[in-house]
Amino acid sequence: MKRTKIELFGGTLAAIAFAHGALADAPTMQPRMGAMLDGLTTAQIDRFETGKILYSRPIPIAEGWGPIGNKSNCGSCHANPLGGWGAISVTRFGMENKGAFELYPGETQSLAQALATSSFCAEIVPADATIVRTRLTNSSMAFGLVEAIPDSQIAANADDVDTNGDGVSGRVHWVTPLEAPSGSPLRAGRFGWKAQIATVLSFSSDASRNEMGLTNRLLPVENAPNGDSARLSICDEVADPEDVVDSNGIGFIDRVTDFQRYLAPPPQTPKSGMDGEMLFNQVGCAKCHVAQFTTSNNPSLEDSIRSKTIRPYCDFLLHDMGLLADGISDGNAGEAEMRTPTLWGVRRRDPMLHNGAAGGGSFTTRVTAAIAEHGPFGEAASSAAAFAALSPVNKTKLVKFLDSLGRAEFDFDGDNIVDILDFFALRTCIAQGATNPNDDCAIADIDQNGVVNSIDVDLFVQAFDGEILDCNRNGFADLRDIALGVSQDANNDGVPDECSACAADASGDHIVNGVDLAIILAGWGGPGASDLDHNGATDGIDLAIVLAGWGACP
Ligand code: HEC
Ligand code: HEC
Repeated sequence: MKRTKIELFGGTLAAIAFAHGALADAPTMQPRMGAMLDGLTTAQIDRFETGKILYSRPIPIAEGWGPIGNKSNCGSCHANPLGGWGAISVTRFGMENKGAFELYPGETQSLAQALATSSFCAEIVPADATIVRTRLTNSSMAFGLVEAIPDSQIAANADDVDTNGDGVSGRVHWVTPLEAPSGSPLRAGRFGWKAQIATVLSFSSDASRNEMGLTNRLLPVENAPNGDSARLSICDEVADPEDVVDSNGIGFIDRVTDFQRYLAPPPQTPKSGMDGEMLFNQVGCAKCHVAQFTTSNNPSLEDSIRSKTIRPYCDFLLHDMGLLADGISDGNAGEAEMRTPTLWGVRRRDPMLHNGAAGGGSFTTRVTAAIAEHGPFGEAASSAAAFAALSPVNKTKLVKFLDSLGRAEFDFDGDNIVDILDFFALRTCIAQGATNPNDDCAIADIDQNGVVNSIDVDLFVQAFDGEILDCNRNGFADLRDIALGVSQDANNDGVPDECSACAADASGDHIVNGVDLAIILAGWGGPGASDLDHNGATDGIDLAIVLAGWGACP
């Protein structure tokens, strides 16, 4: 069987583009996980792309990596997708003193650096450290939007002393951004497992120095291996700060900040209306995993970031998580406190929780384990118990809702690719007729009008990751023709039947050759055997079908 690429026929691409252009009023689709925000300007896209390259470029030692660090680039940890979560953990250590966390004597921080430029320069986790914990890589998705949530909105959900008596008492971690001039007001921390950082630039600076040993204008002083400054002076051969800003004042930390700020929020499909979300609210998950925020309307923000509604399912507050907490204090965040993580994109996260305790198996297994770990002590205990008490049917519904967080539109099989398997599921949904948000077909009902129809099919063609073909040259994608019944696809291969090599065999002699060409020319303009695509007239389309099918046909 032969496939005809649309590129073979000049003009057809334009026809398809026109067909899409006609959809001006159609709903727009959400960016995939790892993609950039919608509506960025050309200059902003350029900054996103440049930042993305530097985010995963290994920093050579000669450019300032080390002497100690954990990896050579941001992307090796934030890998699922790039800028997102990761399965790699870092180690934090220190000493327990009557329940309180203290830095190991002589140390300036709790983070361990596992790699070094030489064994002489290496940092080791001291054997007598009484607290050694791991923390998993979390994600930088949509961090321009998260950064733009006004402090007042985060503070509005806080309930420090549990005034309303519901057992949940989120607290803002007020911090000073590294770049803030001294005397600036404190900001609501929101990034990191302890909400220890308020701005993306601060985190870029912190991660550059602490994960890669790249000193920069905000953190110009190198980490000494195990706090030993004598060893540091021998090991650190590159002058600080190592991140050299260019003539426009743009440094590495600014570049990777661009990338993280312009990352889009993970999609949510279906967008709303699932019973599982109602149950999520009912059992109290939403007390911490707060669905929605609106970003600031500050005119200095980019249009793609300003005044946007986002759905992170996170309050960015600190909560006492009882036994689940890591026992490490950080600034004003206590040993038992952890910041609520965002749940957007959670369906792709493996493992889950700061210590990776909920990993492997199916999504249902992982997420159920993560919820169980919320109890029995701490603020989430009653919510975890309420989940455990749900009927199996309702548990399934709640998990199905969580599984919609991070799902791309039309991605029925959830592999983050919209391919021919998803097309077959789409066809089944068209045949099914009515759908609702609890039904699998809602994954293809993009305009949420209760039925998967031609509007959704046109969007499917845009979302499709494979090659868009128009073998019958009617100006519409073949998949659209098949989905809407314009073309038949009896053998279910995603190719209209009129395009198979034998469809070009007008004479029926199992070879497409001059005989068939002659039949087309003789029948030109009319219906009949020469009208291979059955559109009522023998024309250039039929001629093209013969040329494309030239040769033997079984
Ligand atoms: C060795 C692995 C590793 C490398 C390399 C790394 N990170 Fe991270 N990243 C982490 C871990 C672990 C956390 C969680 C930190 C915490 O709160 O304890 C994190 C957290 C973050 C966060 C906060 C995310 C959130 O959801 O709150 C940002 C932003 C971030 N990293 C940016 C960067 C940048 C930028 C780089 C490169 C300069 C980088 N990271 C390099 C492991 C890494
Ligand atoms: C009291 C606040 C609170 C409540 C209530 C709560 N959570 Fe959480 N949730 C957290 C915190 C904090 C963490 C991170 C804990 C850690 O890893 O140390 C978390 C982690 C998670 C994770 C793992 C996410 C990841 O990125 O690792 C999932 C999934 C989750 N919660 C779902 C739920 C569900 C479902 C409910 C309702 C049954 C719920 N949570 C109730 C605060 C809460």
